[in-house]
Amino acid sequence: MWDYREFLGEVLIDSDTLQRRIQELGEQISKDYEGKKLLLVCILRGGVMFLTDLMRSIRIPHAIEFMAVSSYGVGGRHSSGQVRITFDLNTDISEWDVILVEDIIDSGHTLHSVLELLSIRQPKSLSVCALLDKSERREVEIPLKYIGFEIPNKFVFGYGLDIDDFYRNLPFIGVVNLEKYNALIHQQEKE
Ligand code: PRP
Ligand code: MN
Ligand code: MG
Repeated sequence: MWDYREFLGEVLIDSDTLQRRIQELGEQISKDYEGKKLLLVCILRGGVMFLTDLMRSIRIPHAIEFMAVSSYGVGGRHSSGQVRITFDLNTDISEWDVILVEDIIDSGHTLHSVLELLSIRQPKSLSVCALLDKSERREVEIPLKYIGFEIPNKFVFGYGLDIDDFYRNLPFIGVVNLEKYNALIHQQEKE
């Protein structure tokens, strides 16, 4: 694989800016959920970096859970509509106030399905905290209680978001220069 600098278009949100905003979100959640039985549900895999920083910024007691879903049909960069659970919660959520923790809302299909699937289990409450909102791309409406940043319709990576499964570890949100990235792939295929 390549160093991300070979295809980085620009840094969209740097690490300090991310961390400051996550601190604010944590403060807000701590106020809103004071005295409640709070459960953060991370949607794997993209949500994992955000979860670990967000939970450290929440100063009230809370629990965490993980869940993974995958799109039906075509894989790759665009989700296709319906999703199925590939890794389920190990907690009965009926006694919990649940916040879903996601890295990005794009078309909205992933969260739409997750919200539907989890609301059947009748949690005390169910809301969404997403780091990035690419609202231009929305196909189904999602009620978002907490949003980190509204972002333009660009191909972003880092801080949990992958390009072909890599680069999730980067501490910032970058924009892919697709021309450069596709050239690298093309070159690799020829070798
Ligand atoms: C990405 C992202 C969101 C979803 C957003 O996940 O992490 O979960 O797509 O897209 P949508 O709003 O159009 O549904 P992906 O399916 O790539 O899995 P990953 O988190 O494991 O990378
Ligand atoms: Mn995801
Ligand atoms: Mg992905």
